[in-house]
Amino acid sequence: MKVTVFGIGYVGLVQAAVLAEVGHDVVCVDVDENKVARLQDGEIPIYEPGLTPLVQSNYQSGRLKFTTDASEGVSHGDLIFIAVGTPPDEDGSADLKYVLAVAETIASNMQKYKIVINKSTVPVGTADKVREKIATVLQTKNKNIDFDVVSNPEFLKEGAAVNDCMRPDRIIIGTHSAKAETKLRELYAPFNRNHDKVIVMDIRSAELTKYAANCMLATKISFMNEIANLAERFGADVENVRRGIGSDPRIGYQFIYPGCGYGGSCFPKDVQALIRSANSVGYQAKILESVEAVNYTQKEKLFEYIMGHFDHDVKGKTVALWGLAFKPNTDDMREASSRVLMEKLWEAGARVQAYDPEAMEETQRIYADQPNLKLMGTKEAALAEADCLVICTEWQAFRAPDFELIKNKLKQPLVFDGRNLYEPSRMKEYGLQYYAIGRGLSVKGYQ
Ligand code: UDX
Repeated sequence: MKVTVFGIGYVGLVQAAVLAEVGHDVVCVDVDENKVARLQDGEIPIYEPGLTPLVQSNYQSGRLKFTTDASEGVSHGDLIFIAVGTPPDEDGSADLKYVLAVAETIASNMQKYKIVINKSTVPVGTADKVREKIATVLQTKNKNIDFDVVSNPEFLKEGAAVNDCMRPDRIIIGTHSAKAETKLRELYAPFNRNHDKVIVMDIRSAELTKYAANCMLATKISFMNEIANLAERFGADVENVRRGIGSDPRIGYQFIYPGCGYGGSCFPKDVQALIRSANSVGYQAKILESVEAVNYTQKEKLFEYIMGHFDHDVKGKTVALWGLAFKPNTDDMREASSRVLMEKLWEAGARVQAYDPEAMEETQRIYADQPNLKLMGTKEAALAEADCLVICTEWQAFRAPDFELIKNKLKQPLVFDGRNLYEPSRMKEYGLQYYAIGRGLSVKGYQ
């Protein structure tokens, strides 16, 4: 099938590559000339496991093309995805200017029936706005062309995006058109094997499904972080509590890992956007407000532990930091907990020696002018002459380090772990003082 994807960001690029891989003929359009040129040279703008060979091989075979020419894109695709960004505006609502600009471009260039598919995470009611925009432009141009607008949200996770797209749990199709439903079923047929993963519903429910999914997951995390905070005060170990409740299949083990807060491009933005959307229809989303508030304070937890340990004076101290990305297997630093920690440490007069397997370049870009940040080539190098080690991201490479080496390289045998990677009892045996979230030295009365 002939497909066009507007917006070569995370969602657009992965979706386009995966559709090309199963044989569709895909054209990607972006306004960023530099990005398009780099992709044409085989350079992939993001780090995502498995994506580079997928893009390169499909580009070489001609099934995947990149262009800045919007009219070429519109005339190519019978199905046109809108996968541009919806950044938060000043009050946290999703800004639709890019989505509506693409809708206008599509309408200005279309000559025959098209199915316009919203892939971006957009507030409920956006499909109606896209439809109105296209209809208005067509009317002013005196063009009488039929079209459908479909909501088809994306659920991919960074770091596992290719796999999530290739093997989706569900394919949500929000549409009122039987013709569009048939076409989308055909498009996704290669991904819809074994059992039917397609769930067809009305457009507004599809739009709300995307927010509900992300907000539910964020709620699980903030809930668990709250339990960790209680465990600290009650003298309990939150990791025991986690295993204890996760074993109930109604609760499950996923997304109940306590830590130094959730980050990334989705949870913080989507929780905020749904709070704002709720306000706009006269409803106060109290649970979501709390989810956001708990996460905000959770991101300051590691700093609190450090300050508590050093009697509120870290001036001149050097902190070794492992993990900068908001989660493993990505170089994405958006809303990363490491940023909150580093900025607070600098403000308090400390220096940071940091290491991350993938996010060093991105960190350098963001903090190019920060004199108190040193990026180190290895996790071991980051430890040299530091007063303590702090872990912000649970990269596999950090799970079984040489604890003797940690102890020997640090000036003090002191570890703050924002992802609960180690057993407090083992750390004690190694002679390391160990603070973790809801366990170890963070817990009142821990011996
Ligand atoms: C998320 C959703 O999982 C995905 O379905 C949606 O399409 C986009 O948003 P992503 O932001 O890539 O994906 O990352 P995810 O793996 O969900 O992690 C988000 C954040 O939550 C990370 O900072 C992670 O460290 C944190 N997290 C996750 C926890 O603190 N505890 C957990 O138990 C799980």
